[in-house]
Amino acid sequence: QRPVTDTAARPVPTLPDAQTVTAVQHYTDKLFSFRVTRPASLRFRSGEFVMIGLMGDPHPETGKQKPLLRAYSIASPAWDDELEFYSIKVENGPLTSKLQHIQPGDQIILRPKPVGTLVHDALLPGKRLYMFATGTGFAPFASLLREPETYERFEEVIVTHTCRDVAELTYGANLIADLKQDEMMIELLGQEALDKIRYYPTTTREKSDKMGRITTLIENGDLFTDLGVPPLNAQDDRAMVCGSLAFNKDIAALMEAAGLHEGANSEPGEFVIEKAFVG
Ligand code: A2P
Repeated sequence: QRPVTDTAARPVPTLPDAQTVTAVQHYTDKLFSFRVTRPASLRFRSGEFVMIGLMGDPHPETGKQKPLLRAYSIASPAWDDELEFYSIKVENGPLTSKLQHIQPGDQIILRPKPVGTLVHDALLPGKRLYMFATGTGFAPFASLLREPETYERFEEVIVTHTCRDVAELTYGANLIADLKQDEMMIELLGQEALDKIRYYPTTTREKSDKMGRITTLIENGDLFTDLGVPPLNAQDDRAMVCGSLAFNKDIAALMEAAGLHEGANSEPGEFVIEKAFVG
């Protein structure tokens, strides 16, 4: 005899692949970061991304809810007990309009299948590593800057971050400043490793110490003279790029003009690119 299902007594479905929010920090009306519990089985390489999200609104007729997921770079390093994400808030964005309201204790969905090309495996060995970011494209570098392998593989790590306003640089600026002061990080990475970081923030729409798109500062040579390094060359320089589609395209053209070739997991090269999540 088949059991009779009492629909009213069915348990409320819990989120599939649920993780719990442990911390949330807001930087501007458009940017925030948050941390969630890490599934015990999740292994990833620093720089990779996963799909995360929330349950969507119930369908008006069927009442069914579907998960609303987007690609997010994991901003925490591979060794961290928790996972960190850095996100934009888009007023009418299907996901971020809701995600921006999460609080510690809330649940999000996290599909535990990390992928991505902003990983050391996709880069040939070199001397100098450039990390070129705009906006929330800083996220994978927040992971890689806390990854010991970054400093084992390179003598110098140049981090450029271009945003419209100074406030939008806060997450990255704080992260790098904290990294250099945090005793646990100094012990883990070593002072020598942390001294390899050269941070080069620029703004395009608000006055700051260094203004201009990084693409312009590469073309006019300012980046290299400001840092006292030679112009880009394929023998010594490697680059990881993460920003908008247009930014990635423009940087890729500059890398290729300097003789660097794009790499992938299957065939490491001299630079790698990932599109930042843009709402
Ligand atoms: P700009 O203010 O000149 O557009 P966005 O918020 O639009 O994603 O941009 C983030 C930052 O990236 C801004 O400072 C913006 O400069 C810069 N940017 C946008 N597109 C490009 C590009 N194609 N090349 C270089 N920088 C770019």
